[in-house]
Amino acid sequence: MKPDGWPGHVWLEGKTIVHLKDSQERPSHMPRGPATKSGEGFLNPAMAPARTRSVMLLSDALENEWLVKKNKPIRILDALCATGVRARRWRKEAPQQNRIRITANDLDVNAQIWGRESHKNHPIGDNLVWEKEKDRFSIPQDGIVEDGIRWTNSDARKVMVDAPFQWIDIDPFGSPVKFLDTAIQSISRVGVLEVTATDVAALCGSTRNSAARRYGSVGITDSYMHDDATRILLATIARIAAMHDKSIHPILSLFDGHFVRVSVLLKRSKESASTWKKNVGYRIRSAPYHFSEAPEGNYSGPLWTGPIFDAEIAGRMTVDRAIDICFGNESDYPKNWSDFDVEHSKREIVRTVRHISESAKLLSGEHLLVAIDDLGIAAGIGQIPSMKSIKMGLEKLGFQMAQCQMPEPMFATDADWDTVLDVARSAK
Ligand SMILES: C[S@@+](CC[C@H](N)C(=O)[O-])C[C@H]1O[C@@H](n2cnc3c(N)ncnc32)[C@H](O)[C@@H]1O
Repeated sequence: MKPDGWPGHVWLEGKTIVHLKDSQERPSHMPRGPATKSGEGFLNPAMAPARTRSVMLLSDALENEWLVKKNKPIRILDALCATGVRARRWRKEAPQQNRIRITANDLDVNAQIWGRESHKNHPIGDNLVWEKEKDRFSIPQDGIVEDGIRWTNSDARKVMVDAPFQWIDIDPFGSPVKFLDTAIQSISRVGVLEVTATDVAALCGSTRNSAARRYGSVGITDSYMHDDATRILLATIARIAAMHDKSIHPILSLFDGHFVRVSVLLKRSKESASTWKKNVGYRIRSAPYHFSEAPEGNYSGPLWTGPIFDAEIAGRMTVDRAIDICFGNESDYPKNWSDFDVEHSKREIVRTVRHISESAKLLSGEHLLVAIDDLGIAAGIGQIPSMKSIKMGLEKLGFQMAQCQMPEPMFATDADWDTVLDVARSAK
């Protein structure tokens, strides 16, 4: 039986054909902002960049062996997969498919049927065979395996309790907090946890009660609110991980338009879990800010004060790599695609990773984050110089500087605030 409204209209995300409901508009190539929920077959094209980066991370883990040893498989779960587009993209676009064991789960049976029908209609064609792992777990694995994806239709928390995974993706509507504890427990000795949060009003501090309830945090709505949001989510994950003798190592942490997305490596180790508080504190608004263990003055937090990227992994997330892994070719394009669509799809993939590899080194260590828009008043100058000329000025003095992937123009540097102001005053 076909799902209601099938086949809708087709669209290409990465190299993967997806079916959108007829009621959904044809996406622009750079959709922004939350989509209105369009019923059971919900697929939000504005989340494509997060899915592209997820495919890239998985590819990097397989190729560079930082998660499991050579030839060992990775058991990966998209716990709230809706129509399964992320799981289908892992299956279609990542290399070394014989090492990936994908489970795609969602409570919404109609979204699942839509996803399975999409998968059936666009087979991968590699004749990969993998079966449920019969004796590995205390209870038999449920679900249906089709063309390399195990589909389950259950509460995400049940799926995570039933079996351990080395990679879990949590992408709910709103806050992820109710899934974090189970996800962290379900991750094996070492594993990747990817979390999306769309409750940005709470994370950015504009809804103070929700922030206090969900994250135990206080926010300030200024230029640092997006960085704060990312760090508040990281601190929450670190605190829950520590309860389970685990520590976190952030790989990639971003505020992308209307959501926060963090990818962390979790490791079981009582010793490092015991020191989790070392990287958690408060951002004190001074000139412009500093991190502190204790709250004082005008502060936001508690939040993660440690590195937010892994230098090597994020450093490999280049535009060339993104195009190589996730940009389709002629055989992938939908029939109704024009040259314009192809060009724009390429641009979207470029935008998805823009600034990541360049800022990886700075964001994986101590750095100062600067909002370009704050420089005018702070430096007492009428016209703010361009990012390029500030970069040149700082580099001439021997400092590093890189633009960050942020909703507003911001950069990271290892220079101090006074030097940044001096450079802003003298830059042309
Ligand atoms: C934002 S959507 C997921 C989007 C999807 N990851 C994607 O990339 O298209 C959130 C999904 O969570 C599902 N959901 C909500 N609560 C759930 C639960 N307890 N267990 C499993 N799925 C759940 C909803 O049915 C919905 O499809």
